[in-house]
Amino acid sequence: MKTIKIGILGLGTVGTGVARMLEKEKDLISSKLDAELVIARIADLDIDTDRGLTISRDRLTTDAFAVIDDPEIDIIVELIGGETFAKECFERAIAKGKHIVTANKALIASHGNDLFRRAAEQGVDIAFEASVAGCIPIIKTMRETLAGNTIHSLAGIMNGTCNYILTKITCEGSSFEDALAQAQESGFAEADPTLDIEGYDTAHKLAILNSLAYGMKVNLDDIYVEGITRVTAEDIRFADEFGYRIKLLAIGKRTNGAVEARVHPTMIPTDNLFSSVNHAVNAVNVCGSATGDMFLVGQGAGMLPTASAVVSDLVDIARNLITGAGQRVPYLAFTSERMNDLPILPMD
Ligand code: HSE
Repeated sequence: MKTIKIGILGLGTVGTGVARMLEKEKDLISSKLDAELVIARIADLDIDTDRGLTISRDRLTTDAFAVIDDPEIDIIVELIGGETFAKECFERAIAKGKHIVTANKALIASHGNDLFRRAAEQGVDIAFEASVAGCIPIIKTMRETLAGNTIHSLAGIMNGTCNYILTKITCEGSSFEDALAQAQESGFAEADPTLDIEGYDTAHKLAILNSLAYGMKVNLDDIYVEGITRVTAEDIRFADEFGYRIKLLAIGKRTNGAVEARVHPTMIPTDNLFSSVNHAVNAVNVCGSATGDMFLVGQGAGMLPTASAVVSDLVDIARNLITGAGQRVPYLAFTSERMNDLPILPMD
């Protein structure tokens, strides 16, 4: 049986989840692929903590570049997060001709145009299903399911931490601080939770989805962003009295030859589907020209739901490697000079 070798960079919450899933579901994945997905090496600054993995210690290293440079490795899984060192790792992996799987929305949202151009030139793939909405297959839906649809609008609850905090305050009367601390303990929050609560993590995800939905280059700077830090328990109580729930929504809407792109707390009628999406669950509503409204719901953060999206990309790339198909068709939105970029409407 053919073997596809994987190098994992980063053994935090998601990295540990991916390694555990690949070990636990080894036989299942092999039977589906007719090939083995093997973790060849893992890099993390902490290689001493026991994460319950069976991989032998000599396969762990603190040197990410040693993993990227290993000629045996076919696919690099980047789960370091952040934009600086992760970007260096991407550039090095692309230069070495390695395919990459990532959950790093900040990196794709800020540097996706450049990284995808480089990857296309080298004939390597960057897969990023885990970067938006955890286990919900929204990237594959945009890329494949809706390929023949003009997208009219998309909207979603795309940050598990914020939704968890708002749910805890609304349904259990928790304080903002306690709810955030619990979201951090559960592994939902970013290393810097400001990214979550100030709305930037949601904006990263919206920038990625807008690019796929509307064929735009990734445009983060023009998105209006307001997080949940100014939402008070009193606001939530008043909203409830009038029959509304407050949710942090990301909205990307085609409007007169432009795209309206915004992230902000929104009052939603309690009988609207978004109102019943609670805790770390995410939901994305997409309106396509042929499909009409679609609503996708699932765990938006956390170890195994996010790992599941990473593993789906690994299997996807592995299938191509096994059949010799090589690189998947690049995402035109990121790479093509032919795209007639829609502007983002300025918001006051
Ligand atoms: N911090 C993110 C969230 C993780 O809470 O949604 C998943 O992207």
